Amino acid sequence: MTQYDVNALRQEYPILEREIYGKKLVYFDNTATSQTPRCVVEAIENMYYTKKANVHRGVHTLSQEATDMQEMTRERVRQFINAMSTQEIIFTRGTTEAINLVASSFGNFLENDDEIIVTVMEHHANIVPWQLLAQRKRIHLRVVPIDANGNLNIDAYCRLFSERTRFVSICHVSNVLGTVNPIKELIAEAHKHQVPVLIDGAQAISHMRVDVQDIDADFYAFSAHKMYGPTGVGVLYGKKHWLEMMPPYQGGGEMIGHVGFDKTTFAELPFKFEAGTPDFVGIAALREAIDYIERIGIEQIAAHEHELLEYATSQMMEIPGMRIFGTAKNKCALISFLIGNEHHYDIGMLLDKLGIAVRTGHHCAQPLMTSLGIEGTVRASFALYNTREEIDTFIAALRRILTILG
Ligand code: ALA
Repeated sequence: MTQYDVNALRQEYPILEREIYGKKLVYFDNTATSQTPRCVVEAIENMYYTKKANVHRGVHTLSQEATDMQEMTRERVRQFINAMSTQEIIFTRGTTEAINLVASSFGNFLENDDEIIVTVMEHHANIVPWQLLAQRKRIHLRVVPIDANGNLNIDAYCRLFSERTRFVSICHVSNVLGTVNPIKELIAEAHKHQVPVLIDGAQAISHMRVDVQDIDADFYAFSAHKMYGPTGVGVLYGKKHWLEMMPPYQGGGEMIGHVGFDKTTFAELPFKFEAGTPDFVGIAALREAIDYIERIGIEQIAAHEHELLEYATSQMMEIPGMRIFGTAKNKCALISFLIGNEHHYDIGMLLDKLGIAVRTGHHCAQPLMTSLGIEGTVRASFALYNTREEIDTFIAALRRILTILG
C-alpha cells in the first residue's frame, strides 16, 4: 500500500459496519482488544477446514502441515521483533501468561529479601505475578513513581537499585496513560547493575517497531489479540541463556525429553516452556496478523494513529471540565479522561447508547488510580482503522452527554 487509505482498510472489518442502538459503531476500545481483519479470520478458517491436526505429534501429513504452520509463525515472530533465534520465541496464552511464566520460573532464582523493580503504571498482570512470588519468598517490590504528565521518574528509578535488586519488570506503553517509556535507557541502566529486565509489550507491539536486540530486553511479552490477531495466543521472547537456565513453568506433553518415574528430562528450547497442546490454530493466524501489519507498514500505522491522537486531544481540550490523564510527549494513541465530576461509568454507558465503545474503570491498574487520586477514567483508544470522522462523532457525543447529565 503506497498511500494510507483508511477507508479501504476498514473494508476488511465487517464488525465496523455494525450498528449499536441504531448508530454506526465507533470502536474506541482498541487497547482492550483490536478488531480482526478478514485475512486473519480466513487464516483461522483455513486451519480448521484444511489443516487441523495436533502439532509435533504425528507422522501423518496433516500433523506435519499443522506443525509447519506453527513453526513458520515462530520464524515470522522472530523476524518481526528481530530476535536472534526461534528458540527464544515461546508461545503462551497471552501477555499475562508470559509474565506469570517468568515470575514463576525465574522466580526460583530469587531469595528472601531480594528486590524487584516495577512502576506505578503497571497493569495488574505485571504486579500480581510478582506479588504471588513474594508470597512464596520474602521478595520486596520497589515501585517507580511518575510525574504530573505521566512520565516515569527516571532519577527515582536509578535510585531504586540496590545490591538486592534482582529483576526489573516494566511496561513499554502504559495502558492508561499512553506513556511510551524509554525502555532502551531503562534496560541499559538495569544492565549496569547486572539486573535482567522484562518488558510488558502488550500496548506497544501493534503501534511501533520493536527490536528486542536493539533495546537489549531480556524478556519481552505481548498478545496476538491486541495486534489484529486471534485471541488466546501470546508470545514470550526471552534471551536464550536465561531460558536455558530457567526451569519449566508447566509440565505436560511436548515439553519433555524422556519421562520415567525415576527421572524425567525436558525438551530443548523453545518446547521446554510449551506444555500441552498449544493454540496452533491461533498461532498460525498470528503469522497472518504480522504479515497484515507489515503489508500496511507499522510506521504508517503509527503515523496515522498519532494524527488521530493529536486531533482527538485538541478537540477534547475544548470541552469544559475535561481532564486528560497522561500527557507525556511520547505517547500512544489512547486518551484517559474525566469530565468535571461526572462518573466515568455514566459517561461510558451513555457513549455506548450512542454507538461508541470505550472502556471505563480502573483498567486493571488500580495502584495507578490510587496514585492519581481517582477511582477510574473513561478511555478512548485508537487503531489503524479509526478515522477523524469517528472522533468528530465522539466529541459530539460527549457534548450531548454533558447536556443530558446537566
Ligand atoms: N489490558 C487491557 C486493557 O487495558 C485489557 O484494556
